Amino acid sequence: MPYGIRPVGIRGTGISLPKRVLTNRDLEKIVDTSDEWITSRTGIKSRRIADDDVTTSMLASEAAERALRDAGIGADKIGLTIVATITPDMMFPATACLVQDRIGAKNSAAYDLEAGCTGFIYALATGAQFVSSGIYDHVLVIGAETVSRIMDWEDRNTCVLFGDAAGAAVLGPVGEDYGVLGIDLGSDGGGGNLLDLPAGGSLHPADEGTVANKMHYLRMQGNEVFKFAVRTMSESPLRALDIAGLDKKDIDYIVPHQANERIIQAALRRLQLSGDKAYINLDRYGNTSAASVPIALHEAKEEGKVKDGDIVVLVAFGAGLTWGSVVLRWGRGET
Ligand code: UT7
Repeated sequence: MPYGIRPVGIRGTGISLPKRVLTNRDLEKIVDTSDEWITSRTGIKSRRIADDDVTTSMLASEAAERALRDAGIGADKIGLTIVATITPDMMFPATACLVQDRIGAKNSAAYDLEAGCTGFIYALATGAQFVSSGIYDHVLVIGAETVSRIMDWEDRNTCVLFGDAAGAAVLGPVGEDYGVLGIDLGSDGGGGNLLDLPAGGSLHPADEGTVANKMHYLRMQGNEVFKFAVRTMSESPLRALDIAGLDKKDIDYIVPHQANERIIQAALRRLQLSGDKAYINLDRYGNTSAASVPIALHEAKEEGKVKDGDIVVLVAFGAGLTWGSVVLRWGRGET
């Protein structure tokens, strides 16, 4: 059974990766860490870092243009552009508006959505409603980040984990029984202090004091987030599958948020899925926050791991705290 009124799915994907590679060995020269520690605790070997003159909207626009080419449609066919990010170019205007202008999506509404690393899943679930209801035929959903800009490069607890990048998907109508079959979104604002960036908003407006206290950097209680991650990454897919009338045995492939290989393996064990059913690229890119799921999905598709007719689960967790899963039957079907 399709999820809404009109079946909606992913008709094209694209990514943008900064050229500069920062390896664990490079990090050994910046903070008191080691390749051995980072690899064994996270699985990460390297990450991409955007050059100083590259912004989130630039990465987002490049990924979007590639996704549009993949979908075979022009930017003028997009009715809505949603950018999921925790690192917008600025407080306002929305990064989505900067992307809309840059790619020439002249018929598109545009807004940002902030759900931490779950942002792309939230954006996909939101955008799908507009296609499903018939309000728009095509929606562009983008996860884009320059997390390096909010890193405290003296804090080894966080700076070794993240990377910059963008991933995009074009949503559009698909054939009966294809596309989005089930969605599970959730939040627990009570855990907001476990992963945050406290300054620059109405609570702590930017001033010399907030800068001196490093309040414009990402802060995280890694251990607590880890426990939350394993729980939500294994439970949320089950709820989305249930809505789709499916079971964990029906999963052909899972594309998880790329934060930590130990989190992914623990979630797979709980879902009784073998390792070859999940895509992992965090060794190359680290945690790219909202960009992680669309990049992994794009690469899984390009490598032929996600095939027409497959039941695919996308799942993520992140700041908020938030979590979310989308169950899809991959492909376009007959439209
Ligand atoms: O997308 C959502 C974003 N967040 C996450 O996904 C984070 C989820 N959490 C994690 O991935 C893990 O908790 C971490 C990778 C962040 C940390 O791994 P851990 O096994 O939970 O380590 P820990 O925090 O318990 O730290 C163990 C030790 C500490 O030393 P002491 O206090 O035991 O002496 C840390 O100071 O490891 C130390 N440590 C490091 N050592 C070398 C922390 N970071 C580093 C480092 N290099 N980069």
